[in-house]
Amino acid sequence: MEKIGFRDRQLSVWTKGKGNSILFVHGFPFDHAMWLSVAERLTDKFRVIVPDLRRFGESFDERNDKNSDNKKNGVNERSGEESHAPRAITSMADFADDLADLLEAMKIEKTVICGLSMGGYIGMEFLRRHSDRLAGLILCDTKTVSDSPEAAAGRRKLAQTIFLTGTEPLPDRMIPNLLSKTTVVKSPETVSFLREMILRQRPEGIAAAALGMAERSDTTPLLAICPVPLLTIGGQDDVLSPPDVLKEIAAAAPDGRFVEIADAGHLSPLEKPAEFAAAVAAFLRDGRLFF
Ligand code: MLT
Repeated sequence: MEKIGFRDRQLSVWTKGKGNSILFVHGFPFDHAMWLSVAERLTDKFRVIVPDLRRFGESFDERNDKNSDNKKNGVNERSGEESHAPRAITSMADFADDLADLLEAMKIEKTVICGLSMGGYIGMEFLRRHSDRLAGLILCDTKTVSDSPEAAAGRRKLAQTIFLTGTEPLPDRMIPNLLSKTTVVKSPETVSFLREMILRQRPEGIAAAALGMAERSDTTPLLAICPVPLLTIGGQDDVLSPPDVLKEIAAAAPDGRFVEIADAGHLSPLEKPAEFAAAVAAFLRDGRLFF
């Protein structure tokens, strides 16, 4: 991993290979490691870039967060009283702008972006804000609609809980919805890998991203005017973003296509990396991309 800096921030980034680039954007609450088995399979032909997003993995920035999060969160600035609610928010726009700045710092004009779930929300925000930098877009196990009021309230509650209790309750709560039953039975090592990845994230980062997702807007209208080829990928057994949702997203774009990954759930790249990488490689090879 290398640290790449811009503005007052730096991201920790795994990068390897030469040629046209593909930037992988992780989901919530994970880090770059969820992509590595896919990324390694593509480095012989492509320049692969896999960051830890702002406040996740090794991109948790003590220096920035001491000023913007911990102090603010610990003490209410106006009343001076102790506050026990997270106040920092990382919006999907913040994440997308970080990625544009990262590309600028790496002197990369255009890239394909491949985002999973929250990474897909960020990919759509990148399309809205930085489409001139996109050569193609891959959305996996995600959706384009915003949260219902109930779902947004659930995220705010989650942010509050994690902020107070830490990450400990998260794996048991989340994993049953993240992996297919086949993966859970046949691949205990994937379950442990996922558990550890979730547990090593910082509560402040998780809370800030949960609050950011709660306020994200509906990006569905952007699909009809998507200026680049779009691939959607869905795990057959994904209960959070079922394959039909991904199929509809592809159908709404002028140049969209959909691939289903058998026996995979919400984390299809982690569960079936060879199949997932093959779908991405075919898109990069044959997708008439705009590099
Ligand atoms: C993810 O995997 O990034 C999450 O499922 C996103 C979400 O909570 O909507």
